[in-house]
Amino acid sequence: MRSGGSSPQCKVVVLISGSGSNLQALIDSIASGDSPAQISAVISNRADAYGLQRAQAAGIATLVLDHKQFEGREAFDAALAAAIDAYQPQLVVLAGFMRILSAGFVRHYQGRLLNIHPSLLPKYKGLHTHQRALDAGDREHGCSVHFVTEELDGGPLVVQAVVAIAADDSADTLAQRVHGAEHQIYPLAVRWFAEGRVQLHEQGATLDGQLLPASGQVLHYADS
Ligand code: GRF
Repeated sequence: MRSGGSSPQCKVVVLISGSGSNLQALIDSIASGDSPAQISAVISNRADAYGLQRAQAAGIATLVLDHKQFEGREAFDAALAAAIDAYQPQLVVLAGFMRILSAGFVRHYQGRLLNIHPSLLPKYKGLHTHQRALDAGDREHGCSVHFVTEELDGGPLVVQAVVAIAADDSADTLAQRVHGAEHQIYPLAVRWFAEGRVQLHEQGATLDGQLLPASGQVLHYADS
């Protein structure tokens, strides 16, 4: 339960741009009664994002804000923040939201903005992470949930899932397994946040009041 709040629920707004399989994992985890989080709305910058259909099927409010209709990043981010804040969420979750956010936006949601990235951060910030892990000859890869700060893919880590790389992995097979791990750790991180167990402090992210290591909580997935 969140400390200081009268309601045990934690309102969440999820931002997407695409398939929304992480959104689906969150919806499923909440539906299973596993989490005090409640998704108030799903917002997409693309009208054709399949995740919008997933949200509608779950009875969640959806909104499309097309960034191309705005004069620049600041104007889009201001409209996005206004749309989010109308729901007064305790948490904003980036789930495949393919936009770089302005510093002002990130500061506005400091401590209540989470992202998932398909690599073991700080390795492979940015795109094409699976191919880059293969090209580097890594034996392990994975995904990370982190608080968003002004540094792209650089905020304090909450949890990482480590996935072993097999000798015959392609970027596609590896991506599939990492995706499976994402669907485990994102609902977990959101639940921890909703329960008040995970917080962002000046020194970093904490779990149950203890400062997490730079890697966040590390979980290993043999085969997911
Ligand atoms: C995931 O790989 C996530 O790590 C990245 O974007 C992708 C979103 O996938 N940030 P989905 O839309 O949740 O299926």
